[in-house]
Amino acid sequence: MQVNVIFQPTGYRGKICSGKTILEACQKFGINLESPCGGNGTCGKCKVKLEKILCNKESDFSNSSISPITEKEREILTKEEQLQNFRLACCTKITEDMVIFVPEKSEKGKQRILETSGSKLFHLNPGVKKYYIELKSPTLEDCRDDFTRVKDALLHKYRNLEKHISMDYKVMQTLSSLLRKEKYKITVTLWMDKEIISVEPGFNENIYGVAMDVGTTTIAAALCDLSSGEVITQTSSLNPQIIYGEDILSRISHCSINKNGLEEMHSLIIKEINKLLEELAASINRNVNQIYDMVIVFNTAMHHIALNINPEYLGQSPFTPVISQGLNIKARELDINICKGAYMYSLPIEGGFVGSDNVSVLISQEIHKQDKMLMIIDIGTNGEIDFGNREGVFSTSCATGPALEGAQMKYGMRAVTGAIERVKINSLSLEADFKVIGEDKWNNTAEVGGVKGICGSGIIDAVAEMYKNSIIGKDGTFNKKIVCPRIRRDEEGRMEYVLVWRRHTSIGEDISITQKDVRAVQLAKSALYAGAKMLMKKRNVDSVEGVILAGAFGSYINKENALVIGLFPDCDLNNVVVVGNAAGEGAKIALLSTDKRTEAEEVAKDVQFMECAAEKDFEMEFYNAMNFPHSEDEFPHIKHILDSISK
Ligand code: FES
Repeated sequence: MQVNVIFQPTGYRGKICSGKTILEACQKFGINLESPCGGNGTCGKCKVKLEKILCNKESDFSNSSISPITEKEREILTKEEQLQNFRLACCTKITEDMVIFVPEKSEKGKQRILETSGSKLFHLNPGVKKYYIELKSPTLEDCRDDFTRVKDALLHKYRNLEKHISMDYKVMQTLSSLLRKEKYKITVTLWMDKEIISVEPGFNENIYGVAMDVGTTTIAAALCDLSSGEVITQTSSLNPQIIYGEDILSRISHCSINKNGLEEMHSLIIKEINKLLEELAASINRNVNQIYDMVIVFNTAMHHIALNINPEYLGQSPFTPVISQGLNIKARELDINICKGAYMYSLPIEGGFVGSDNVSVLISQEIHKQDKMLMIIDIGTNGEIDFGNREGVFSTSCATGPALEGAQMKYGMRAVTGAIERVKINSLSLEADFKVIGEDKWNNTAEVGGVKGICGSGIIDAVAEMYKNSIIGKDGTFNKKIVCPRIRRDEEGRMEYVLVWRRHTSIGEDISITQKDVRAVQLAKSALYAGAKMLMKKRNVDSVEGVILAGAFGSYINKENALVIGLFPDCDLNNVVVVGNAAGEGAKIALLSTDKRTEAEEVAKDVQFMECAAEKDFEMEFYNAMNFPHSEDEFPHIKHILDSISK
């Protein structure tokens, strides 16, 4: 007997043999219903709502002949869902004419929309996806090879897949025994819907990926659930290559001068990447083999060294990289320990030292899609600046040094628990108030068990507060006329300001900001400011309409204090936003969306790269920016603060 079914909200309708499941009806009428468990009643993704029995105006399903709710459905559907006539399409047989509502969530191919931390929207569309299939075992009449059987089963069940599917060599090595052991019920992981990179027993929908930002000083990593787009956990560590020098030029020169220099530094970074991967997987009781995709962003020097590519000519004018385009490399070729068949994707490089990390910043902040002239300042050991709008974006990089990332300072540290992230100085007593990462209150040394050091956001605050309170002058030199126990000379006779007395620290020493620290901040901020000015000249403008401050300096950078020290050209503070690690955010976005990877390839081609060293005015701009906030430029938006300092 044939029965009529109507699917809502599409209105698709047709006839089907009574006794077929709703899932079978969907497949017949071309409705793309989620069914990753292959209709086994275990994934719970094929939920639909029974709307109406066509001959029954009351829509009363209690007396209908529709198959009764199964045990599997009772386990998966909530009580409320059961009351609202929700059913699993694979468990429910159609026996009468009826209307069925397919919720958007159950529709395959309905792309999930995710939001970045900067409120930009993008579609969840990862580079790897899982497919559950059941195969027929071979017979003398049907002796197709195992790969062909898997491919045919995939194409038969998932009709939207492309015909040209290949298989990773490592998967080939284990496929036959796995198929037979698992009675031909397997979950296949496809990369870009065209290469089988993993085959697992039975139904397994867990699918994870890792996004990494490998910086000169720090490495940040995030483990994401690729089916939901959720960031499950994050971690970070110091780049161990720091023993070969704090800046990229020393790392490049170590590779050029020493026969095994590149190999040494490459192994070191891969070891650290593997350590972070182990840590991320262990934190959710998983194995690194369950990480099926990986995106890494780097500056150009880190990119070459991590990929074991000679960076020698990158260090010499005209600073050309070996390759700029985005790369898909088998992770195992780099000795990165994730799923054996998985790829590592590296976003494209822009040019010179502006690497994939800056492309990553751009796809997360999207200034190339805005009308306003916006500036992104990505604070790192190698600072990167972008300036422009939808009519064009210029980028540059400047050697900032690691001061604003918390390194190279006497008591600098990464933005982790125990680091001072905010500082205020009392204008009458010159006593310091501070806030430590991990605590809500200010000056709560007892609760945090001691302070360990100061991170980037705390350093910017401390130097700005010292300047606002005339502890240091416009040129950064300590004011020797002030008499205060916190202002003193260190064991080597250099001036310093004590932020935290040793009784509140866990390092057994007073934590101070020294004259050398102030100089390091001056060098960093003048490099950024000069780079920003050069880009403004390129676009022929003398003001910016908005500033985005990015970097791994801690989340609570005080934008007013950043402007007081002259970290960027004057701007209305209402139009200044602090976004944290935008390169890491962009890596996550590229992991979750292949569309954004395509956008990255286009952005990298469109952005115009400017080499600061080649600009004749750069040195002069750098010199003028050494003072707080600047030797010549006006800062009308913080005039009230600057006026009070000079009084
Ligand atoms: Fe998985 Fe129905 S298809 S529960």
